[in-house]
Formats: sequence, structure tokens, C-alpha cells
Amino acid sequence: MVNSEKLKEQSLAARGDDKLLYTPGPLTTSMAVKKTMLRDLGSRDHEFIRIVKEIRQKLLEAGGVAGKGYETVIMQGSGTFGLESVLGSVIPPDGKLLVVVNGAYGRRLVQMAKVLKIECADLVFPEDTPAEAAGVKQALEKDPAITHVAIIHCETTTGLLNPIKEIGELVSGRGLTYIVDAMSSFGGIPTDIEACKIDYLISSANKCIEGVPGFSFAIVRREALDKTEGYARSLSLDLRAQLLGLEANGQFRFTPPTHSILAYHQALLELEEEGGVEGRYQRYLDNYNTLVAGMRELGFVEYLKKELQGPIITSFRFPESPNFKFEDFYNKLNEKNLVIYPGKVSDADCFRIGNIGRLYPEDVKGLLAVVKQVKEEMGF
Ligand SMILES: Cc1ncc(COP(=O)(O)O)c(C=O)c1O
Repeated sequence: MVNSEKLKEQSLAARGDDKLLYTPGPLTTSMAVKKTMLRDLGSRDHEFIRIVKEIRQKLLEAGGVAGKGYETVIMQGSGTFGLESVLGSVIPPDGKLLVVVNGAYGRRLVQMAKVLKIECADLVFPEDTPAEAAGVKQALEKDPAITHVAIIHCETTTGLLNPIKEIGELVSGRGLTYIVDAMSSFGGIPTDIEACKIDYLISSANKCIEGVPGFSFAIVRREALDKTEGYARSLSLDLRAQLLGLEANGQFRFTPPTHSILAYHQALLELEEEGGVEGRYQRYLDNYNTLVAGMRELGFVEYLKKELQGPIITSFRFPESPNFKFEDFYNKLNEKNLVIYPGKVSDADCFRIGNIGRLYPEDVKGLLAVVKQVKEEMGF
């Protein structure tokens, strides 16, 4: 039996009583990941220091950049803290950021730059349209003050994937720094960080690697980060100081979420068992295909065109029926231990269903059966 099948059998057999989370995170995690947290380990313990080192290395491997001049910097706090750490630490006082926006997470980066008093421009595409390299090229030609470009890989608002490689080649070709928010895609969609010319990629513990919340991380091109001394706008979120601290003695500058880090180490071992990022991508794709086929059969319509949709999370339009009330629909699924997610699209009423976390096509079929039942009950 290949390891991924063994892992599946173990995962389904040891489910526990928790609700299944069809969301963008926190996610359903394996029992082994949860159990790893049942111990207290000091943050200066040799074992903990070794685990942190291994996590940093395994993340480089997951991004295809081990031994290629990149480092992993783990930062306490959720994904937003990681993003704020990068924006606040790597852009010089006279730098200018261009944010490519086609959803709520792109807009949040613009808001973050404003709070940090970083000079910022945005390039806005509709929420159902991937960013276009030609538009980015034009924006850069029009504004030579721009030094850094930031984009979201999987815009979790809709589930759309942006063409990060094409845009990365353009940004790097002009000698600019490239920042990618890969929060909901890293570990679940194969991404070659070097080929995409990414200088800073940010993700967090409770997404596709299937750990629990508690920290974020940035995979950084060493040469780029080395040039940022003195730029940090925060003490605790200083990205370069955090890396130098980890390198000096393997320890964090401030208390790390030890239990979450232990869980993450186990989650990375399970990622390897599943066949690495490629294996996990295949499972998410199976989940996604099962979901969309089943939802269509029940009469639901996706917000995005299929060719634009990534396998991470799908936005579905509210059915056109006076009997459909999202609150009721959500609550009825929740009563059956199934948790879906509200929508975030600004120009259409939608809800979202995620395919990530320790869920299998069997789970998706289980969700579809309950959706069918609830649909009949509500009469929409
Ligand atoms: C693309 C993207 N960026 C940023 C975030 C924010 O992460 P957090 O809620 O962990 O701060 C999320 C969360 O889902 C996300 O999907």
C-alpha cells in the first residue's frame, strides 16, 4: 500500500468528533497532528530547536528552493502578521509598492501599506478576472518610482489563481522586488519559487500544509533580505532580525507558539507521506472535482468560470429562490457537523466551500448528500 493510502486510512479511522471544516482555515487536521500538541516543550530545548530547524528546511524543499540561496523565516502570529512583517521590513523609506488587486486580500495589502505609511499604488482587476501581465507592465512603465510589486497567488475571496510566474518574470526583468501572498496555496499547489522569481513568499501554519494556527512564515531570497537592514517599521515583526536571531542560536527572539510548531512538524512529515506538494495537490483536485460536479447536479452555479478556478476554495452563487437564506443553510449544515464559509465577493451574493485540510473525496460526497437533504428541506 502506498503511503498516501495508508495515511488516508489512518486519517479516516481516527477522525474524532470534531466538525469537518470546509473552509479556508483553520482546517480539519489529522489526529496525529492534534496529538503532537499534547506535550510541553521548552522553547530553548535542544529538541525544539532541532524541530524548528527541520521545519525551516522542509519548507524550502516544499518550495523547490533548498540550497538555492533562500531561507525560511518563521514569524509568530497569523498570516496577516507575516504579510505585515514582510511589507514593513523590506521596503525602504523611499520605496514604492504596487499591489495587484482582484479581491479582498489584495485590498488588505493596500490597507496595510497605508497603515505602515508606505507609498503605495494599486492596480485593480475585477474580482472574476485574473491579473494580466500586460496591465502590470503598463503600470510599471507609467510609474518608475515603483520598487516592489505584491500579488496574491490564490485570491481566497473567489478561489481564483493569479499568473504569478508571468508577472514575476516581468517584475524581476525590471530589477524590482516581488512579494507573493501564497497564504492559501503554498503546499497545496506546486510552486517553484525560483522559477516564479519570487523574492518573498508568505504563507501560514493553518493552510495547505495542514497544521494549526499560531504562526506564519516567509520564504525569502537571502540576497534580497540582506539589503534591507534598518528598514523595519516594527520591533517584533522585523523580518531580518527574526532570521538573524534564528540563525544565531536556533531560537526565537520572543516566545514562539511551541505547540503549534510541534504540530506543524508532524504535518510536514504527513505531507511527505502523501507524496509531497504534488500528492497533496492531486487530493485537493479530486476534492474540488467531486464538489463541483455534485454541486452542479444540485443546481448550484460557481461564481468563477471553471478555467479560472483553483482547487483550493470555490465560491457558489446564492440560488435564486426566496426560500434560500444563507444563515439557515449554514446552520442546518452546521447542525450536521459540517462547516462551510460565508462569501467575500463584493459584487455577488455567494458562499464558499473549501477543499483543503484533511478531507477526502469521501468527505466531499458526505457534504453533498447533506446539502441535497437541506436543499429539499428548505425548498429552494
Ligand atoms: C490569500 C490570503 N491572504 C491573507 C490571509 C490572512 O490570513 P490570516 O487570517 O491567517 O491572518 C488569508 C486568510 O485566509 C488569505 O487567504
